[in-house]
Amino acid sequence: MSRLIVVSNRVAPITEGEPTAGGLAAGVMDALRQKGGRWFGWSGNVVPDMVTPPLPVVEQRSGPISLYTTDLNQRDYDAYYKGFSNATLWPVFHYQTDLAHFDWAEFEGYRRVNRHFADSLQALMAPQDVVWVHDYHLLCLAEALRAQGARNRIGLFLHIPFPAPAVLMNIPAHAELMAAMCHYDLIGFQTESDRLAFADYVLREMGGEALPGGVLAVGGHAIRTGVYPIGVHVDMLRQEAAAAADSAQVQALRASLGGRALIMSVDRLDYSKGLPQRFTAYERFLADNPGWHRKVEFTQIAVPSRSDVHAYQEIRRELEGEAGRINGRFAELDWTPLRYLNRSFARRDLMPLYAAAQVGLVTPLRDGMNLVAKEFVAAQDPADPGVLVLSRFAGAARELDAALLINPHDEAGTAAALERALSMRLEERRERHAAMMAVMRHNSLERWRDRFECDLRNPASLEHGAS
Ligand code: UDP
Ligand code: G6P
Repeated sequence: MSRLIVVSNRVAPITEGEPTAGGLAAGVMDALRQKGGRWFGWSGNVVPDMVTPPLPVVEQRSGPISLYTTDLNQRDYDAYYKGFSNATLWPVFHYQTDLAHFDWAEFEGYRRVNRHFADSLQALMAPQDVVWVHDYHLLCLAEALRAQGARNRIGLFLHIPFPAPAVLMNIPAHAELMAAMCHYDLIGFQTESDRLAFADYVLREMGGEALPGGVLAVGGHAIRTGVYPIGVHVDMLRQEAAAAADSAQVQALRASLGGRALIMSVDRLDYSKGLPQRFTAYERFLADNPGWHRKVEFTQIAVPSRSDVHAYQEIRRELEGEAGRINGRFAELDWTPLRYLNRSFARRDLMPLYAAAQVGLVTPLRDGMNLVAKEFVAAQDPADPGVLVLSRFAGAARELDAALLINPHDEAGTAAALERALSMRLEERRERHAAMMAVMRHNSLERWRDRFECDLRNPASLEHGAS
């Protein structure tokens, strides 16, 4: 039998109720929960350099999922995770080249860890298994597996944006990276613009040729590309929201709001999420709309993330200052306009908080998809739904065009959208919500998983291509 082997750097915690670190782990966990499969990745532990690879692989079972994890030693963690993945690829792929640095030694470390992952995987894979790799940490994994002789079908899904060639070429190792990516049989993207950016590089910089059905011929082999927008379990999330509507946490929130409208944001504390711009747009809203003073509150949950990468320390410092400044300017003895929480919540506990909000404010400067936007919509009561204000630069905006779409760089435009969202009549809120739910039901998490797996297993499947 041919099994599905999933590989990602970050894996979801196996214990129920723990916070999931980011969209990838949440999505893959939900996708595997029903079908089962093998999932290999990093344990999250860093061990001293004297422990040298091959490091042991630990197996845990959670229902139908077998989770296999391995540690990284300090040197590999520094070069692969903290260095090339999160200080080069992440900023460049999110178009923030000013925050990127590059070091050939880190790139070499990245390739080395991709090879270690390939070594460990050999023991978990049979020749007929299909391998589904996730995200930017493992762009070189198919190349490493092929070098060891693996002939399995190997696919990559990129959860984050793929940049235009001119932006990608800021990375001195762009040619090596792209050559490595061409060892995948199938590469999936969140949106058509990401797919086109990849194809553009292959055609113009590598002399590739575009064939029908999203196939790119380059260097004697064919890579298939497709668009697979990641979704959420709409009904499960609504149930979670409704089931905890009167939990102690929600009651405490309601009591503290005292009837005020709630604007809610939830993000990893990441510079790609546009938090400083969001804060100043809210400040502008308060300045422009004195009638809303005391009647509204903005709660920002910002989960610390990658806190040993310099740019993340900077953004954290900046936001603390900004939150204090805005509250200093507008707060009254009985009103705190902005609540800023630096902690994480289990996703299940977030759902009723979203449901208690009148506005979901999601304003990334760039985002592959942004699952929080979809979760916010799914959590709403269809009879009296809140309004989503969404950046047009989130992948989710391609599907959720019934949200109030904003440009996060447009402070006045975002402030005006907040006012519009807070004042929107019930009928319009219901219409917009129903339109978004219809798209989300169609582009479900099951569909994302099944289409990718089907296209990976069946090279000739016609499902391939458009979403
Ligand atoms: N999340 C969570 N607890 C938190 C904050 C976020 O479980 O305290 C989850 C959130 O529900 C969502 C994911 O983390 O499923 C974030 O995914 P998204 O695509 O919005 O952004 P990413 O962090 O992947 O860039
Ligand atoms: C985003 C990335 C994921 C990553 C997550 C959390 O969702 O696409 O690959 O796992 O952020 O970041 P972390 O560095 O903690 O894994």
